[in-house]
Amino acid sequence: MSQKPFIALDFPTWSETEVFLNHFEEELNVKVGMELYLQNGPFLLEKLLESKHHIFLDLKLHDIPNTVYRAMKGLASYPLEIVNVHAAGGKEMMERALEGLDAGTPTGRNRAKLIAVTQLTSTSQEQMQKEQLIETTLEQSVLNYASLAASAGLDGVVCSPHESNMIKKEIGERFLTVTPGIRLAEDTPGDQKRIATPKYARELGSSYIVVGRSITKSSDPVGAYQKVVKEWEELL
Ligand code: C5P
Repeated sequence: MSQKPFIALDFPTWSETEVFLNHFEEELNVKVGMELYLQNGPFLLEKLLESKHHIFLDLKLHDIPNTVYRAMKGLASYPLEIVNVHAAGGKEMMERALEGLDAGTPTGRNRAKLIAVTQLTSTSQEQMQKEQLIETTLEQSVLNYASLAASAGLDGVVCSPHESNMIKKEIGERFLTVTPGIRLAEDTPGDQKRIATPKYARELGSSYIVVGRSITKSSDPVGAYQKVVKEWEELL
């Protein structure tokens, strides 16, 4: 898997996804989230794999440990690059998720990387404190979840670009930080609260960026993608 940005394929149907993908000639890193997966299922993974795209399956699993174990074991039959769970599900759930992935990965194939969602990039500190009754700062909560994920043996976390540096300092350079909340300077933030440009995300230490609407809603998706890649790769 290259370090290219992951394009968030937030479309309702395969046909809309296909129209979008047909703009591109190369193999892409793509993120499949719940909108697309829940309405199209494994068929969609097969279609993307046929075209040699690399998949981050962003289903953010959060359930009892045994259920997450079994779900991950099933998902591991597909050659996925990254899958994820919510760190809020707890250490035991994350450990079981990893065991499920190991158990389901066919011999001779690399296991998908398992990462944990810390706090969603659409969550503000005020909202977290008021709704989740977490009294620390947002950064401390993210760091707590990241440390929990690392202690469960996970490969990294999903977090805001602004938190990458702090997490890598605390846990280590090899711990992956996958960061959505990316906007080109000229874009509107939408519902995202903790955002950064691709260039700034690279400076802040993101391992991978995830970019959705800046590319998928652009009148020139290939141009927008190339702009994101250029900004991101300039500092490689
Ligand atoms: O359109 P946009 O670039 O905001 O898309 C970001 C993508 O990343 C969406 O698919 C969203 O579900 C996902 N995501 C996120 N924040 C997280 C985890 C995933 O925005 N913490």
